[in-house]
Amino acid sequence: MTTAFEKVLVIIPTYNEKDNITIICDRLRKAVDTADILIVDDNSPDNTGELADRMADADPHIHAMHRTAKNGLGAAYLAGFHCGLERGYDVLVEMDADGSHQPEQLPRLLAALEDADMVKGSRYVPGGSVVNWPKSRELLSRGGSLWTRLMIGIPVHDITGGYNAFRAETLRVIMDGITSVGYNFQVDLTWHVQQAGLKVVEVPITFVERERGESKMSGGIVVEALAKTTAWGLSYRVKQFVEWVSGLFRK
Ligand code: GDD
Ligand code: MN
Repeated sequence: MTTAFEKVLVIIPTYNEKDNITIICDRLRKAVDTADILIVDDNSPDNTGELADRMADADPHIHAMHRTAKNGLGAAYLAGFHCGLERGYDVLVEMDADGSHQPEQLPRLLAALEDADMVKGSRYVPGGSVVNWPKSRELLSRGGSLWTRLMIGIPVHDITGGYNAFRAETLRVIMDGITSVGYNFQVDLTWHVQQAGLKVVEVPITFVERERGESKMSGGIVVEALAKTTAWGLSYRVKQFVEWVSGLFRK
């Protein structure tokens, strides 16, 4: 597959993904053979890190980064972004290790990025779907997206989605403002891109729940997301109100 972008880096954060990492990298290498892969492992007890090193030794397109402890998805991605920007990649992509994000759909994201600053793979636009999620998890995700849309008024349907592609320039503009460590990291990125006046485009994806290993979703992740989006929403609404009032006085 050819893309308009020369240097594409797909970042895959891992924590205990030994049964998934080889499969996802094989699929990705086949789907977009020009892309490089950076696995960012948080010292997984199941030795995903060593496996990543062996894969990196065997394939020059694969790289591995090792962090000392499980410090959250957001922190792992930020480290990966910094590394990719330093090495001059044009495009940086986020992808889960567990097969939920289809590497075969990456060309679709890259094509949309030709006319956008950030592309979100979206489960909740026409053509998008979720396979094998328990109803409770889908409700949490849809509810979270709706809440965020109400709070910060952002016209994105799948705000917590984690299959995203960025132009390097976009990350250079927004990265220093990102503070979330859990899955709210995805909201944080999208919100900052939007606030910077840059263009976010959603493309439909098929999200397939993992078959092997465990999700790292936790109560703390939900609490962080709720607290942050609510605080952003309130300050955003106050700002809107102040602008509206000062508009009245200008008349
Ligand atoms: N390095 C590192 N450190 N990786 C992590 C950590 C961490 O602390 N926590 C999770 N990961 C990795 C997992 O190994 C996996 O590759 C990816 O991040 C996603 O984790 P999952 O635990 O599989 O997430 P999920 O399926 O519950 O959540 C998905 O949906 C969320 C809601 O839409 C992800 O796509 C999230 O990004 C998304 O926000
Ligand atoms: Mn998952």
